[in-house]
Amino acid sequence: MVTTTALGLLSLLSLAAPSLASYSVNLNYRSPSLNKDHINLGIDTAKITRRSLVKRSEPPYAPSQLSFTHSVASGDPYADSVILWTRVAPSLNASSSEVPVSGDVPLYNHDNEKYAKASAHPICVEYRVFEDEEATSVVDQGRVFTSSDVDYTVKVEATGLEPFTTYWYQFNVCDSEKVSPLGRTKTAPAADQDLKEVKLAVHSCSNYRAFSATGPFCTSGYFNAYGNVARKDNVDYVVHLGDYIYEYENGVPGVDERAVVPPREIFSLYDYRTRLGQYRTDQDLVASHAKFPWIPVWDDHEIANNGYRDGFSGLRNTEDSFLNYGPQVSVDQRKMNAVRAYFEWMPIRQVDMDDGLRIWRSFQMGNLFDLIMIDTRNYDRSITDLSDNSEYIKLIHDDTGRSLMGPRQENWFYRQLSSSKDRGAKWRVIGNQLVFAHIQQKNEDGSLSFSGDAWTAYRANQNRTLKHMYENEIRNNINIAGDTHVNWVSDMIWEGTKPYNNVTGAGAVGVEFAGTAVSSTGLSTVSVADAESVAETYSINPELKWVEGYYRGYFELHLRQDEAEARYFGCPTVAERNSWELPLANWTVSHSESHLQRPLAGGSVEAGYFVNGNVKHSELAVNTETGKWEAVSFGKMFIRD
Ligand SMILES: [Fe+2]
Repeated sequence: MVTTTALGLLSLLSLAAPSLASYSVNLNYRSPSLNKDHINLGIDTAKITRRSLVKRSEPPYAPSQLSFTHSVASGDPYADSVILWTRVAPSLNASSSEVPVSGDVPLYNHDNEKYAKASAHPICVEYRVFEDEEATSVVDQGRVFTSSDVDYTVKVEATGLEPFTTYWYQFNVCDSEKVSPLGRTKTAPAADQDLKEVKLAVHSCSNYRAFSATGPFCTSGYFNAYGNVARKDNVDYVVHLGDYIYEYENGVPGVDERAVVPPREIFSLYDYRTRLGQYRTDQDLVASHAKFPWIPVWDDHEIANNGYRDGFSGLRNTEDSFLNYGPQVSVDQRKMNAVRAYFEWMPIRQVDMDDGLRIWRSFQMGNLFDLIMIDTRNYDRSITDLSDNSEYIKLIHDDTGRSLMGPRQENWFYRQLSSSKDRGAKWRVIGNQLVFAHIQQKNEDGSLSFSGDAWTAYRANQNRTLKHMYENEIRNNINIAGDTHVNWVSDMIWEGTKPYNNVTGAGAVGVEFAGTAVSSTGLSTVSVADAESVAETYSINPELKWVEGYYRGYFELHLRQDEAEARYFGCPTVAERNSWELPLANWTVSHSESHLQRPLAGGSVEAGYFVNGNVKHSELAVNTETGKWEAVSFGKMFIRD
């Protein structure tokens, strides 16, 4: 129980805190566009400070009224620093805001007071970083404020750290015993550090609850893939290639398993905050965030389906779409709402504070590799397939002016590839949303088709990338991709322009490892055999060696000096929360060869269409909780309502 005296004391403490605590060290007040050099952009912290000093009727929050509602997270590791995240609030929920912001409100400034009751009480939070799991030796610490203006999120940069070193961290409400869970994180290697190995887990497409367009039922998925990575504890960093959330309405809360909130398609800042907050209550996702530093990029569903720079397949940048689709939120406003919530909730850096849409950035991982994270979706992408313009996209897919990335990012990307080679990094890992290989599908009538929403529909951007790699002899490129909910493994080639031997792999300039989804629907909701019959329709592509679209899961990427290895894992089901994991296929790339090593996948895979033909179907899985191996079969992948 909090006594009046205790409240008085806390009030004194909070008055004392401003000399120590800071708004601007909480990066979310500077997000996405404010920095100290232009304080009129972003959130007006001077105004929030004045608001907090006005005499008010309610007392400030006592620590007992506050909770660390969504555990902790870390991300974007550099050699000497890492981003730490938490949320401490009087409520699980975001402050409600339904009124559209209008007038002269600065871009991205979503100051709550403009449209909803803002809390007058900032909350002082302390963070500490430890060398040891027992949390005794502090190596960095600080105090920051959070408030309803940033949905009570806290994002700080822990600094002064040693490279490639594991640390633990914890938050507490200032001057109290109210603490967050203890998180673990790891810094990046120093750029010139000589390393034996770095290991990544690569995820994409985690749908809390999905509607199946192809089946007579809704599909719902548990995030077993996140849980398996956390339980195995076999990687240094987690990479997420987007579709971290989905924007759709799905299920009735309180009735349907994993029904989403808010119970509607999301448009407002409140909507996006609430949806992100719900996802972050998933125990497997929480476990992964608390254990590994994440390096994420968004795909389309962090904002809306099949997006490009000027709209989405659902909400178009037209009067008709604005009036008739959703609650009359414009494309630009919806994008700002989603982006703001994303920066608030994700442990991600803003490498360019003047560019609120920029998430493309890179990480130097010792002398082993550069991790180049690009945005082929929302930044500056030319028009995509919006479902009713497919023929148009086919007609223009080869236009030189089309770009997935926009000129600014494209030029940065090519420079990154060159500087990575120049500095002698062994590998270039390109973290992007979309499948890069020029994949075509054979239709029943014998005709060929390709996706209008992938690199194939932006041939000029694809060609410029390949030209840069081939002409500058930049080899050992590893493209990693998500988006399709299907496993695809290919040699990276320039079809029709540079010679390629599809038997030996000679002529390739790298490889592509594209991964299935954490839980989103793949090639079939029915069976492995059904998914394999669909996968076979892609057998005409010379560079494509494996297609598997039944199992949900993820892959690990192990980078070493002389070879890279991709290990694909499936979840036998996501219809229930469990810890079974099915090894699907292992691929090796020798540094001296720059293509998939033969025999492919060591000669056999578990499931899917495989060029070599040796498909085991053993169903032999390991329980990542107990270590026990067993042949397991669940008969269904998704919950069927
Ligand atoms: Fe997806």
